[in-house]
Amino acid sequence: MEEIGVIGLGRLGICLALNLEKTGYVVLGYDISTDCVDAINNKSFKSSEPLVEEYLKRASHLIATTSITTILKSDAEIIFIVVPTPSLPSNEYSHRAIDEILLQLQAFGIQKKTKHIVINSTVMPGYCDSIKNSLAELNYTVSYNPEFIAQGSIIEDQQYPDQVLIGETEKEVGDKIESIYHKLCKNKPRYCRMSLISAEITKLATNCFLTTKIAFANAIGDIATKANAEPDKILNAIGADSRIGEKYFKYGFGYGGPCFPRDNKAFKHFADKINYPMCLAHSTDEANQLHADFIENSWKERYSLDSPIVFDSVTYKKGTDIIEESQQLKLAVSLARQGYNIVIKESKKVVEQLSQHYPNLFSLQINE
Ligand SMILES: NC(=O)c1ccc[n+]([C@@H]2O[C@H](COP(=O)([O-])OP(=O)(O)OC[C@H]3O[C@@H](n4cnc5c(N)ncnc54)[C@H](O)[C@@H]3O)[C@@H](O)[C@H]2O)c1
Repeated sequence: MEEIGVIGLGRLGICLALNLEKTGYVVLGYDISTDCVDAINNKSFKSSEPLVEEYLKRASHLIATTSITTILKSDAEIIFIVVPTPSLPSNEYSHRAIDEILLQLQAFGIQKKTKHIVINSTVMPGYCDSIKNSLAELNYTVSYNPEFIAQGSIIEDQQYPDQVLIGETEKEVGDKIESIYHKLCKNKPRYCRMSLISAEITKLATNCFLTTKIAFANAIGDIATKANAEPDKILNAIGADSRIGEKYFKYGFGYGGPCFPRDNKAFKHFADKINYPMCLAHSTDEANQLHADFIENSWKERYSLDSPIVFDSVTYKKGTDIIEESQQLKLAVSLARQGYNIVIKESKKVVEQLSQHYPNLFSLQINE
């Protein structure tokens, strides 16, 4: 059986590792977190992502380790990197975790047989080109292969992608990556192969377009509400036009979560850096905030200070446990701080996060 490496076994990495294992690879997974590695190896790993615990229980060829040399010494020709790239105050991504791995590759020394590094983490356009020469000196190639998945359906989204995006420097390496997805995917996605920087731009531009689409739908919904018209019927009709499409085109809370807001801002940062004023990304951000203000004002008109306001979910997307950049939570926090009586019914994991971040601000109830 062919070996393959996955560095970073967090929300995205564990799903990729399990899908690769299910596809028939022996997966060597490296993570700096001992807890994460132990939990994977003794099969007690907990995840709110569907199928993760089930796939892990059945996985017999996934070996997690806290030693990167296990992967570097192995026969694995392809090594995916799925480590965090948090946003900096400038809105760029921090590549620190990837840079740390590169230092470990350097310390290990030159590989006798070429290995292929495939970066899945979201990076700023230009990053992969900036590291390719130093990696080449150690006998590694670099490719960029970001994924378009949604929290709450990561495993399935990896199996049924619309497109597989591959930024490559050599055709043969792109072919190897493509062949992995031919085995992994249960559908027939479009394979989009291009240069490293083109793939980096594609990843950010896709999310920038989606945020624009969501913000546009919400702006039309707000206008329709103000004009006593029918927001849902209007958006349903616009979305029926096949040039537009109905996905991400509903009236609701603004976009949030760990990807959309930061990809949109990072894309604007990149455009600014090359002297292109990407006003769309900026306006989208503003529109998302205007919509949040619109919702808050309408809730304040609807509710009085003494009647409880019940939130069934405050995560950025119902069914996940992610509160990062959640518009629902921002609304709950703002109303609570203005004296409204906010009741939140959520899963145990979310309630724990809320009690830690916002002690005594809400009435919290655990959903069974
Ligand atoms: N989660 C998603 O849905 C999603 C979607 C698209 C893109 N991404 C991108 O994928 C990347 C990873 O995201 P995530 O949500 O899986 O992050 P995460 O924080 O859930 O997991 C990252 C994992 O990497 C490990 N790690 C950190 N530094 C490391 C190092 N130096 N060496 C080895 N392991 C290290 C951490 O211990 C953790 O287990 C990010 O760049 C993110 O933007 C994530």
